[in-house]
Amino acid sequence: MIRLGLYGTGNRTKALLDSLCNDDFYKVHGAYDLNQDSAEALASKYGGTVCRTPEELVSLEGVDAFLISLSPFAHAEALRRTIPAGKPVFVEKPVSFSASEVAELAALAEQRRVPVQVGFMRRYLPESIAALAYLRENDPGRIFCVDCNWFHHGDTEMNFCLYQQPGNFRLQVSQIPFHCCHMLDLLLLMGGPVRRVSSQRIKVTERPYPSPDDLIANIEFANGANGRFHYSSMVYYTEMSYRFHAENYSIKMNAGMNQLEFFRRPRFRTSQLGSAPAQRKDFHSFNESYESFCRPQIVNFSQSLNVANENIMYDFVRMVRDGVPPAADLRTAVRVQGLAEAIEESGCLGRPVELAQDGQPVKEKGLS
Ligand SMILES: NC(=O)c1ccc[n+]([C@@H]2O[C@H](COP(=O)([O-])OP(=O)(O)OC[C@H]3O[C@@H](n4cnc5c(N)ncnc54)[C@H](O)[C@@H]3O)[C@@H](O)[C@H]2O)c1
Repeated sequence: MIRLGLYGTGNRTKALLDSLCNDDFYKVHGAYDLNQDSAEALASKYGGTVCRTPEELVSLEGVDAFLISLSPFAHAEALRRTIPAGKPVFVEKPVSFSASEVAELAALAEQRRVPVQVGFMRRYLPESIAALAYLRENDPGRIFCVDCNWFHHGDTEMNFCLYQQPGNFRLQVSQIPFHCCHMLDLLLLMGGPVRRVSSQRIKVTERPYPSPDDLIANIEFANGANGRFHYSSMVYYTEMSYRFHAENYSIKMNAGMNQLEFFRRPRFRTSQLGSAPAQRKDFHSFNESYESFCRPQIVNFSQSLNVANENIMYDFVRMVRDGVPPAADLRTAVRVQGLAEAIEESGCLGRPVELAQDGQPVKEKGLS
């Protein structure tokens, strides 16, 4: 049984703990939170020793792995404290709002040979798992485009925090690195490394919410494919959608209905042209035959987000118990944060931003 040292005892920690709480994979061994009442309440439910300081948690005898879930502003410092203890670590996203700081932490973890798993959770949704498996198992040919939309009514989140939790870190962070990092993680998994980003950003609405009102980023992948990421907080419905277009098929992935649709290009010349192309006198009759082979395979999944929590925690168990390297590690987090940073930076500076091979934005000479 894995003995966990919890660094942070908020809502997310409880959701992660609950996901596999009856499977005897792990138990709480120690817990620390800035808010001691929260740590005590958690320990009275899940067990474990309440630690008064981070040092006490990190040096607590018997911890097998650490689980860090805090205000995102505190994750980097928590990693700096826990990595030297030499135990595997799970850390929630975002690791930091600076790609260079994430790279520094990745180097520290590599130097100490400590595996660190990062909580990029949307890759663990059933539709994401199925889309990524399809990509692996079916040659896409040349990839043309990966296109993503993240639309939400930012007002509701802002209003909730202002009325109920004015100190909530959600009022201090832009949604692009904070929340859309999940989408950027999938965009990178589908399209590969990014070479250059060019964004247009609109921020005219006066409100205490750092997210842009609207932002469109054109993305050039290293493999020559086009990419586009569209974020809007001034939308009165929610949409999270992905479009993938390649030589051999297209994929649509949506949160909500028709979560996954695969459209294959007709496979053979006969299916592309129809059996008697010479007799086909107009465009529509060509289309009819072509499209009969392209009709989508539509897959819906009835599970909730809980299944993603279960999947990510089981990967954590596999990392600690079986030594399986994490699928999303700190190097993944460098690329995701680097892309988020480049997207925002390009929108603010009004010029394209290049990305280095490790995924960090290249700073213009003279700029820090
Ligand atoms: N992967 C996902 O899908 C997902 C979902 C929700 C939240 N999260 C992430 O989890 C993290 C926590 O979110 P939450 O909803 O549980 O928030 P929360 O406010 O419920 O919990 C955060 C906890 O961290 C503690 N804390 C803050 N700074 C600290 C510090 N320096 N030292 C010790 N304790 C400190 C707070 O006292 C609080 O108990 C966030 O970073 C968020 O991005 C990820």
